[in-house]
Formats: sequence, C-alpha cells, structure tokens
Amino acid sequence: MQQTQSATSAAHTGMTTRKDMWWLEPALVAIGFACFGAYGTFRAFENNYYEFAHYLSPFYSPKILLPFWQSMHMSPAWLILWIPGGFRATCYYYRKAYYRAYFLTPPACAVTPPVGAGSGYCGETKFPFVMQNMHRYFFYLAGVVLAILWYDVFAAMFYDGGFHLSGLSLFMLLNVVLLSGYSGGCHACRHLVGGRLDCFSCPSAKPQLSAWKFVTKLNEHHMAWAWFSLFSVGLTDFYVRCASQNPALALPLF
Ligand code: FES
Repeated sequence: MQQTQSATSAAHTGMTTRKDMWWLEPALVAIGFACFGAYGTFRAFENNYYEFAHYLSPFYSPKILLPFWQSMHMSPAWLILWIPGGFRATCYYYRKAYYRAYFLTPPACAVTPPVGAGSGYCGETKFPFVMQNMHRYFFYLAGVVLAILWYDVFAAMFYDGGFHLSGLSLFMLLNVVLLSGYSGGCHACRHLVGGRLDCFSCPSAKPQLSAWKFVTKLNEHHMAWAWFSLFSVGLTDFYVRCASQNPALALPLF
C-alpha cells in the first residue's frame, strides 16, 4: 500500500499541462549558481593572484588585512564576501530563482512540486527564512562595497599623474556599471527613493519622482542586471587572476 502511494506521488512530481520547456530556466539557474558558487569558493580559499599593479579583484575589495586573521592564514576575501553574498542571497529575484531551482517549491508556475516540498514553510517569519528580511541592511552595506569598487576603477585608471586605460580597467568599469544597475534596481532602493512619498504630483516631490522613475526602469530588468553583474564579477576576478600571472594581458592601451 505504501509502495503504491509513493509511486503515485512520484508520478505527480513535475506534472503539468504546460507544453513549453518550463524546466529549462530552473535548470540553468541551478547550474549557473553552482558554477559561480564553486568558482567563488575556490577563489576565496586560494588567497592568491587577487592583486596586480593597480588592479584589485572585486572578490577581495576592500582588502582588509587583520593581523589575527592573517596569523590563521585565512583569506581576506571571507571578511568581505558575506556582504555581496548576503545581498544576493536575500534579493527578491534570486529568492524566486533558487526557491524554484533548488527547493522546487514549485519548480515553475503550474508545475506540481515534489510531495512534501515546502511543507514546513510558513512565510519568511521563522528561522532561517526570517533572515531574508535583512535584505535592506545588506543593500546599505553593499552600497558601501560598491562605492569602494568604483574607487578601485579610478585607482586602476588614474596613476603616475596621468590617465591610463587597459583591457582590464575597462572590464572593471563595465563590472561596476553592471553592479550599479543591479543595486540601483533593488526593491529596497526603490522604496528608499520613493517609498515614503505621499504626494507624487506635488511640485516639491519632482526630483524624488524622477529618481523613483529611474530606479523603477532599472527594477523592470532586475533579473538581467542580476545575472550580467554576477557574471561580470566572476569574469573580472578571473581577468585579474590571469593578468597577475601574465602581465601582458593588462598592458595599458595608452
Ligand atoms: S531586490 Fe534584488 S537586489 Fe534588492
């Protein structure tokens, strides 16, 4: 009897009348997060090849060198990565993506989840999901990290009393632009900019309204900003890693 029941449950998992490839998106999300997570963890543990000439990897910026941390041979990346990591893990878009890809609750719209999936879920009111409510605080901290990444770009372009451009500094610039688009379109940012406005049409609210409209435009493509910025962070770090072993890759163009 029990066997018949589980056979029936298994048959219902993933059942849907949808005819499209609904499984493709959660599958790509699962693979994308796994690849980035594996690479990021490897790089954080590697504790090497993250700095070269005027360039610093975004995984290690800001570079925090604490004597007791170094005495334990711990990578400085761990002192900073929890901020962007927490920011992305609590992001509204990413929540949807990994709840679907990893928890299968449900795997996609109108697709039956596995039996028991999400059975203990009671909103984001209990540990560990209540931690998702810290998103706005991660947004503030990530803003500080982003400002430092912008500084890194300027430090990579302006040195020795002049302006220099290389493939790597251009890549770093692209990375911070994408990160700014991602952070700027954050729901917490949208609330911060326009959430407290009672009267949008009041003349005094015009600047705030314009800012809110701009943030809303970014927010409409939050998913794209999230993925492109995730890839750009990983690729910028990879570029720094390669250039630190082969400086010819980052020779100034002028
Ligand atoms: S909602 Fe995605 S970064 Fe805030």
